[in-house]
Amino acid sequence: AETHYHQFVVQATPVKRLCRTRNIITVNGQFPGPALEARDGDTLVVKVINSARYNVTIHWHGIRQMRTPWADGPEYVTQCPIQPGASYTYRFTIENQEGTLWWHAHSRWLRATVYGALIIRPKIGVPYPFPYPNKDMPLLLGEWWDRDIISVQRQAIFTGAAPNVSDAYTINGQPGDLYRCSSKETAKVYVESGETVLLRIINAALNQELFFSIGNHMLTVVGNDAAYNKPFTTRVVMVGPGQTTNVLLTADQPAGRYYMATRAYATAQNAAFDNTTATAILEYYNSAMKHPRPLLPTLPRFNDTNTVTAYTSQIKSLPSKNLKVPTQIDENLFFTIGLGLVNCTTPGPRCQGPNNTRFAASMNNVSFILPRKTSLLQAYYQNIQGVFTTDFPPVPRIAFDYTGNVSRGLWQPSFGTKLYKLKYGSNVQIVLQDTAIVSTEDHPMHLHGYHFYVVGQGFGNFNPSRDTAGFNLVDPPSRNTINVPVGGWTAIRFIADNPGVWLMHCHIDSHLRWGLAMSFLVENGPGKLQSIEAPPPDLPPC
Ligand code: C2O
Repeated sequence: AETHYHQFVVQATPVKRLCRTRNIITVNGQFPGPALEARDGDTLVVKVINSARYNVTIHWHGIRQMRTPWADGPEYVTQCPIQPGASYTYRFTIENQEGTLWWHAHSRWLRATVYGALIIRPKIGVPYPFPYPNKDMPLLLGEWWDRDIISVQRQAIFTGAAPNVSDAYTINGQPGDLYRCSSKETAKVYVESGETVLLRIINAALNQELFFSIGNHMLTVVGNDAAYNKPFTTRVVMVGPGQTTNVLLTADQPAGRYYMATRAYATAQNAAFDNTTATAILEYYNSAMKHPRPLLPTLPRFNDTNTVTAYTSQIKSLPSKNLKVPTQIDENLFFTIGLGLVNCTTPGPRCQGPNNTRFAASMNNVSFILPRKTSLLQAYYQNIQGVFTTDFPPVPRIAFDYTGNVSRGLWQPSFGTKLYKLKYGSNVQIVLQDTAIVSTEDHPMHLHGYHFYVVGQGFGNFNPSRDTAGFNLVDPPSRNTINVPVGGWTAIRFIADNPGVWLMHCHIDSHLRWGLAMSFLVENGPGKLQSIEAPPPDLPPC
């Protein structure tokens, strides 16, 4: 195994998109940021130097961080942010993980531009479970705003996501030919006729689930997050924010140029969204054709949930020694997720919801508040009282018709920094239930420190006696981020074998900022996290 050393300088960089230049926050002046490449078993050491004027942290999305929770990155959860002028070195080892992950800022909305690929190849001598591709490249899907991202964030949080939708989607940082002033820089992938390319598709967008397709070409899906799946072919994939999908593309069409395109899958009723299409170009070398306008794929309609359901249900794990689906359950948890409105005590800029309310989001009706003076992990480790409580409810305090007509009385979440204590080594099941409070919506839920098996999904209210019987305990997909379908539920299982404090949240950043989050505390000794590494000496102070 190797150790890879990197330096990330977080800095303001002038970048021109959609005819305008503005300063965005980048890593090393690159947008998207540098792609990190490693093999299973390798160690990464990344020194992050903050030369920007905002606090920042970096999260290694999907890396389990066994024994190294200090390197996970979410601000105020596992560390205090790195302040301007300061630095912090993240050090972690990849253990039994292969596939495509990514890294991003985990501090306010900075991840809009601070992100990059994290590619994990098998150990030397270990083959892929599919024919070796001729080429391998990341495709990062993102969003672009003309305005400064921190001011967009402020307004979105005060007023609801709309009208602060993005001005463009991007593929590898570029909007592509269908936007103004963008065609010269359109991202391109060159292929030789007959060769096969492994495309590592990463949804780095802040707030948008995305469809992706390539004109005339079929895609073979071989991996999701850091796991392989039984290969299947499709014309279109749907990737939620935080998720990655590996596809094989064979250049088996007449030599020419084809568009790769991405566009919104948007499920919130009546909410505005960016309805534009980003493109990149797939171009055959020695194309005899005189490069006519590339062929645009047909993408599903923005609200085509049937296509998404049909696509998602095809993802099944490959048999492997790492496949350990819990069949007995020790912790049976049920979390409602969704939006909410809170009465304002005093009118102000935040109070832009209907009838003098402001937006909030919650899990089991608790809207998550981050501490400010220390991180949760430090508070636990150093036994600092008063930072959090461990009374996060394992089930909703009251049962109701979650996806039906929800009464006004259920709209008011309470605020808190509540953790749920999981017994080390226990088999955990969580049913994540969307609610119709304000609006039903698809939520990409991400769990730090783990990947989990997606054993069931459905629409309406979860019904244990009816739905548990249909769970897939044989070859469920293994993921770190999963969509809870609009007006529906998702059941996940995992073994709580990683001690630490681990955030679970919606990967739509506006929902995260509204409080759609909670944290797990996994103790492996009475009041202790045994076997984890000591906090690094340069762990930032608050
Ligand atoms: Cu990719 Cu907590 O995030």
